[in-house]
Parts: sequence; structure tokens; C-alpha cells
Amino acid sequence: MEKFFFDLGAGTVAYVGAGAGSMLGPAASAAVNGRKAALVFDAALPAEHPAFVKAALEASGFTVSAHALSGGEKNKRLSAAEDVYGFLYDSGITRSDAVVGLGGGVTGDIAGFAAATYMRGVGYISVPTTLTAQTDSAFGGKTGVDFRSGKNLIGCFYDPKAVVCDTDFLKTLPEKERVSGMGEVIKYGAIADSSILDLVGRGIPSDDIIARCIKIKKKYVEADEYDLGERHILNFGHTFGHAVEAASDYSVPHGQAVAYGMLAMIRLGEKLSLTGSETFGAVRSALLRAGLDAGYEPYLAGAYPFLALDKKSDGEMISAVFLKRPGEAFIKKLALDELCL
Ligand code: GLY
Repeated sequence: MEKFFFDLGAGTVAYVGAGAGSMLGPAASAAVNGRKAALVFDAALPAEHPAFVKAALEASGFTVSAHALSGGEKNKRLSAAEDVYGFLYDSGITRSDAVVGLGGGVTGDIAGFAAATYMRGVGYISVPTTLTAQTDSAFGGKTGVDFRSGKNLIGCFYDPKAVVCDTDFLKTLPEKERVSGMGEVIKYGAIADSSILDLVGRGIPSDDIIARCIKIKKKYVEADEYDLGERHILNFGHTFGHAVEAASDYSVPHGQAVAYGMLAMIRLGEKLSLTGSETFGAVRSALLRAGLDAGYEPYLAGAYPFLALDKKSDGEMISAVFLKRPGEAFIKKLALDELCL
């Protein structure tokens, strides 16, 4: 198990690796003064996971109440956050208590947003259970919900006080979730560490690869916490990816959509003479080895109408992320119509 500090706001402590769950009680005790914990968890998780978290918090002296929410991007709406507010109210949670989010990216976004906004902020502790959340969404303080046809249009930055990233949770991860999570792992390889591209395969990545992804994320969010510039690099493949997700009414999983988006941006980079010729093959090969599909072309036309909703878009211009070669990314402002392949 590794321990990192994210140097953001008041700071976030992260415990990463097999068995990290043993640090939940101590981390929660250190993070808040109160003794109530409100556990918000994905209803689809095996029952052993919320039971484990509840027991760990109780062993550290917390009185725990629990609220199950429906995962899935289609449930990431203000109404889900409102349900959490009702749960926090009924549980008598105060600003000195803790909200603990247990689940994947959707659970973390809703629970984190509710924690950020209930009583203007209750201490939040994130316990990610999916590969996507453990390598990406649990870190860096992004919280929020979707609105109309825009993903994450309502939200705020709210750093968790602690992230307890126990890779043992991944042992029960459904194969579809593992494959989707590999999209983010491969993104980290593509933008910052090409050796990750060579290491990925059909299984759950090692704790070392997961920790390497988190360290890459740490570097970008510490440099640009509020996502005004350099942090956009972490969104490589996401501009098209979010558009593909929205166009498919969220039937294409996030990581698969990001995989399509990465390949589209590499092809666009080749067309604009920005991206080296070895890049497409290296990323495509990693995606295929991880079990992702590489046939992005049929998704492009449907995605274009959704591109302007990207939060990296500034009216007519978009902050696009390209690869120079595997492991090296940069940002270039483009007019929206230049994104056409
Ligand atoms: N998932 C990209 C970011 O946190 O900025």
C-alpha cells in the first residue's frame, strides 16, 4: 500500500493498494471531528463492500447511516443529489460529520457534490471501487451531475479529505467495468507514460500501474487544480468521448467512449501533422489487448452535434488535446469546425 498527499486546498491524503481499506477508519477519524458518518453507496455493489465500510467506520467510533443510490450515468441528475440531501437531513448530519462515497465515478460525483453543497460543505471521504474511479475520478475534486444533454454541467471542485483506494475491491469488478476502466488507464499511458501502453492486458492492472496513473493525475491537478489550462491534458479523448456517450444516450460506457475519442484525436493529429505516425498503432494495440473496441469511425458523425457542449469549449474555440507521440501530450486551441476528421 502507498500513501500520497495531494497538495490541493486543505490537502487530500490517499491510501492506494491492496488492503488500503484498513486505513478508512483512521483516515475518517483524522479528517473530521464529528462521530457520524453518512455512507452513500452504489446499490449494485456486492453487499460485502458497504458492510465492510460500515464496520470499518464503526470500529473507529462512528455511528453510520447508509443510503444506496442507483449507479449509471443516466442517474447522475440533480434529483439523485436531492435524495442524498434528504438522507443527510434525516441522519442529522452536521458540518463536523463525514459523508463517505463508496462506488464508481457516478457515485463519487453525486456523493461528492452533495457533500460539497449540503450545509455549504461536509467533510467528504471517497472510497472508489471501480478502475475508472480508482485511477481517475476519485482524485482531483471534480464533483457534479449531468444537466439536460450536457455531462457534468452542474458541479463544483470539492477536494475529498481522504481517498481510500483499496484495489481489493477490483476483485469483484464486473468485466464490463474493468474493460471500461482500461480506457482511462490507457489514457494515462498515452499522455504521460508510454510504458503503461506496453504493460496493459486482459486482467486488472497491478497496484503499481494504478499508483502510476494516480501519480500522473496528481501532477496535473496540483499544477492546475481548477482545470484552467494544463489539467485539460487529462481530458485527452474526452471531448469526442463525452460526445459519443451523449449521442449514444450513455449506452457506450465511458472508457469505451474515451477509447474512441483518443483514436479520433490521434487521427486528427496526423491529419494536422501534429502526431507521429507510430502513435495510432501503439494506442490501438493497447486498447485491443485490454479488451476495448477500436472501431471509432461509425460514432463520429453522431458525436459532432454534442461537441460544443464540452466544458473545454469557449464559444467557437475548443481546447483540444493531441499527442505528439505515445506518452507526450499537448494542448492546442482549435475552432470547433477544425475538429472534423
Ligand atoms: N478526469 C479529468 C480530470 O479530473 O481533470
